[in-house]
Amino acid sequence: MNVLVIGSGGREHALVKAIARSPLAGTVYCLPGNPGMEEAVRLPGDPMDIAQTVRTALERRVGLCVVAPEDPLDQGLVDALEAAGVPCFGPTRAAARIESSKAFAKELMSRAGIPTARYRVFDSLDEAAAYVRTQPFPLVVKADGLAKGKGVVVAESLAEAVGALEDMLSGRAFGPSGVRVVIEEALTGPEVSLLCLTDGETVVPLLSAMDHKRALDGDQGPNTGGMGAVAPSPLFGEAETRQAVEEILLPAVRAMREAGCPFSGCLFAGLMLTPEGPRVLEFNARFGDPETQAVLPLMESDLLGHLLACREGRLKDETVRFRPGSACCLVFASGGYPGPFETGLPVRVEPRGAEVCFAGVKEMDGQLVTAGGRVLSLTAVGETLAGAVAGAYRAADQQAFPGQHIRGDIGRKALGMKGEA
Ligand code: AMP
Ligand code: GLY
Repeated sequence: MNVLVIGSGGREHALVKAIARSPLAGTVYCLPGNPGMEEAVRLPGDPMDIAQTVRTALERRVGLCVVAPEDPLDQGLVDALEAAGVPCFGPTRAAARIESSKAFAKELMSRAGIPTARYRVFDSLDEAAAYVRTQPFPLVVKADGLAKGKGVVVAESLAEAVGALEDMLSGRAFGPSGVRVVIEEALTGPEVSLLCLTDGETVVPLLSAMDHKRALDGDQGPNTGGMGAVAPSPLFGEAETRQAVEEILLPAVRAMREAGCPFSGCLFAGLMLTPEGPRVLEFNARFGDPETQAVLPLMESDLLGHLLACREGRLKDETVRFRPGSACCLVFASGGYPGPFETGLPVRVEPRGAEVCFAGVKEMDGQLVTAGGRVLSLTAVGETLAGAVAGAYRAADQQAFPGQHIRGDIGRKALGMKGEA
């Protein structure tokens, strides 16, 4: 069967690699992909051009299209492909609202009794500003729509909260994504990512993971798309995962059915482990980046078989297996990221026992060069988390491109929690 993966980052490369290993896979295409993806045939195009993407999928006789990024999901790419007869892994536009509208997600959680921060939704600046004057700080202000991970402000003061509300509700900060806001109580605790497969009824959790969102060691510096991940999270083993499926994921999937928009695809719960128990910070309607690069190298069973089972509503008959042990993924970012950075620098990387996933790269005169903030990642697996982390840092002891930036402490917090350091 021909498979088409939509997207071009490290997450998509990890998906391409796992799918290409499947005995069910024929040609694996990626649109637009990146030139580091040797396992895939790259198809030029813009996934946000829905009509052209559908034509391409039909021409290539695609048996399953895996729509990985949030923007084309929110644009209704799955709806259009399915209407044209191309089977998809990923939610419809209506179901993707669990990520693309924070107000929708909060209302769903509140109906379904899913533990999450207390919240209010506003689209009037006067009303929102009056509300925040009555609240304790810190307080969290979130743009309702997709904002590339930048739509959340943890405000320490009234002035900061009002500033964020003004930026968002005026449309200045995020355009239409910000003209409605969710204001919620600030929670504290470590964060866990839990990626799950679902066909709309059954939920199968993958391994938990811990992302590292800040640019610098010690969780300092600005937020990024993710500088590394370990899996599984030492704070979230099988028992915690089972409980989260019962109390969070299954109620969410049931509530989506009841709302008339059944969710099929990867449902990703971003959790905060508070002293009162896990609370949902957000749902994503897709695989995480870089969590996917850490989780998939540990999967022993056939990812493509599982994705097809989700699409065909027979996930309850699947057995998803992971090898014992842990994985650690290190992201190589361009110097300066997430601020301005240079591009066009030559990239050469040796795997050294790790799995290489390319992201922000392009081809220039037959040579791979940097083209984005997150350029590539290396994932090592090991019997223990300490082994995986050590393996990843051994592999990363090389210059893949000039000015590369790697965090030096990916997994350190997790190791401290595990007492393995
Ligand atoms: P989200 O896009 O909703 O996951 O938010 C991005 C980041 O903001 C999260 O990973 C948290 O670090 C932080 N955050 C979101 N909601 C809260 C909250 N209620 N309390 C504290 N931090 C939060
Ligand atoms: N790593 C978080 C995300 O993919 O949104």
